Amino acid sequence: MGPASDDPPAPAPRPAAGSPPNGPPLNDPRAPRPDAALPQHLAVIMDGNGRWAARRRRPRAIGHRAGARAVNTCIDFCLEQGIGVLTLFAFSSENWGRPEDEVGALMKLFIAALDREVEELHRRGVRVRFIGERGRFSADIRTRMQAAESLTAGNARLALNIAASYGGRQDIAAAARSLAQDVADGKLRPDQIDEAALGARVALADLPPPDLFIRTGGDCRISNFLLWQLAYTELWFTETLWPELDATTLHEAIRAYAGRERRFGLTGEQIADRAVPGIQGSARP
Ligand code: FPP
Repeated sequence: MGPASDDPPAPAPRPAAGSPPNGPPLNDPRAPRPDAALPQHLAVIMDGNGRWAARRRRPRAIGHRAGARAVNTCIDFCLEQGIGVLTLFAFSSENWGRPEDEVGALMKLFIAALDREVEELHRRGVRVRFIGERGRFSADIRTRMQAAESLTAGNARLALNIAASYGGRQDIAAAARSLAQDVADGKLRPDQIDEAALGARVALADLPPPDLFIRTGGDCRISNFLLWQLAYTELWFTETLWPELDATTLHEAIRAYAGRERRFGLTGEQIADRAVPGIQGSARP
């Protein structure tokens, strides 16, 4: 659980860690420098809805409904803090195997949330996108997903990505299949397949990878979420159950992130040497 107060993140105590090796040069003053103590991209596993409901002797569906309210808390936080990208794991490819009534309740909840929230998200400048195997959803849901994406496509304040029927292995397999198809069609040579080529075909390839991953509910695992994209992401876990998420817990995560030194495989000295005073001297990316 988070601390009792709702204080803003503490000032960063250590020198900057630097951008990834393939990012803008660290000593380039022209490179855009968002507040380095703040993640640009937050990825979240929203876990604990079922336990939240069980503690209240309520059906799991009630926990998911409470979880949908916490989604708004998280979106509000990102908008207030200026976090530009939020990716939420709403439904994994494995979740289809849950009891039929729970899957049905989640589908109804997705429809209700889409009907209720999309206009408001659009008004607030949120761009909504879905990643995952869309074909497994009903036509009703697919139509709403498409409509939400079209309506909000021009928004730039917050990119909200909803992972639905998503699996990280499936994401990587689809990227590999697409490269293989290009090789079979003579558009690509096998020796042209490298990290950049594969990375360009996984989900969210047009966005910066997540800087901070948060999982609520106490389990410390990634559960097949964004396997490729999380390679250098800072991981943060909390016992807080998703429906109980509040700004205090999120501030706690941001504070932990601000205190991390991200080295991207380099040494601490290398990272420190590349710091440019006035650009990233008081915080670390
Ligand atoms: C995991 O908790 C949560 C899910 C599988 C569903 C997530 C859905 C929501 C938060 C609500 C709707 C979302 C949107 C985007 C409108 P769990 O059921 O595994 O909890 P447990 O581990 O306590 O059983």
